Amino acid sequence: MIHNASWRAPSNIALVKYWGKYGLQLPRNPSLSFTLSACYTDMQVAVEHIPVTPGVSVLYEGQPRPSFEPKIRLFFNLISDRFPWLKDSMVSINSRNTFPHGAGIASSASAMCALALCLLEIDGQISGHKNLLDDDWLRAASEIARIGSGSASRSVFPIAAIWGETVASDNSSDAYAIPWGPQLAEVYKDYRDTILIVSASEKSVSSTAGHRLMEQLPYADIRYSQARDHLIQLCRIMEKEGDEMGFAAIVEAEALQLHALMMSGPQPFILMEPATLAIIRKVWSYRRETGIPVCFTLDAGPNVHLLYPSRHQPAVMGWVQDELVGYCSEGRFIEDRVGSGPEKLA
Ligand code: DP6
Repeated sequence: MIHNASWRAPSNIALVKYWGKYGLQLPRNPSLSFTLSACYTDMQVAVEHIPVTPGVSVLYEGQPRPSFEPKIRLFFNLISDRFPWLKDSMVSINSRNTFPHGAGIASSASAMCALALCLLEIDGQISGHKNLLDDDWLRAASEIARIGSGSASRSVFPIAAIWGETVASDNSSDAYAIPWGPQLAEVYKDYRDTILIVSASEKSVSSTAGHRLMEQLPYADIRYSQARDHLIQLCRIMEKEGDEMGFAAIVEAEALQLHALMMSGPQPFILMEPATLAIIRKVWSYRRETGIPVCFTLDAGPNVHLLYPSRHQPAVMGWVQDELVGYCSEGRFIEDRVGSGPEKLA
């Protein structure tokens, strides 16, 4: 018998960054992210009980991708206590992304979130326990997604999520993310994220290498404690309207700190491109001149996420077209926004 599940899972953009981990993908500091809408992974998973030849096969955009298989096998080993059927099944995965793979737009977040949701649904079919989408089920999905990729734990929830223990919430945990959308003021539930693709090529440092780098930095503990403070400050700001400039200051400090950390190790990485820096300067002067609270954030790559309230979309997009598209690779950008979370596909 073949079991099937199919899910669409979004990427997310961290406002307070997860950078540094220990044990089984546990975070050194809590992180907070917006769940995105246009950047997502669609995935179908089929599981067939074949004890003689268990294994994994991966299709990406319809083409075989054996290079993805070792990471998935490792993930399956880590979760096989929870899903014992993985040990004697053939698991076929077919996925596609709406955004370039490896471009610093967290593809592992959407892909591992989609995979966790598919596996959990199939586990329900096999075991007969189908509590699809209740709170415990979503928490379990977040926990499984975390083991695949830390940031994936946050993609399970609509609007915004917090992953990692913080005094900002009693329910927070290092093991899974919690939804943070209901706590937000309306303005933040309708934020835009215009992603300027400075380069769509593969990242020059993997997240795994980047997290490991933190272990070698003398500033690591100070960074973790600052991230904890940033998260608390940002949660307070985002409960109310009116301090979008305060939001901008913390979000940008987080992005620059992430890159500063990567520049500071024994083997330094510079992940910004000249165009990244030029865009940052443009953001600062535009914000100063117009009073529009547009800000930037960065992942572990050169692309720039412009974050701003939806009501400023016409003005900001006019400025993007006039002044920023020239910095984008082939003029490419993605118009994304805060989104409504994963979706089960037919
Ligand atoms: C810079 O979640 O990709 O995007 O847990 O090793 O898979 P692994 O790392 P990953 O790290 C994401 C780092 C980041 C910041 C963030 O999303 O919080």
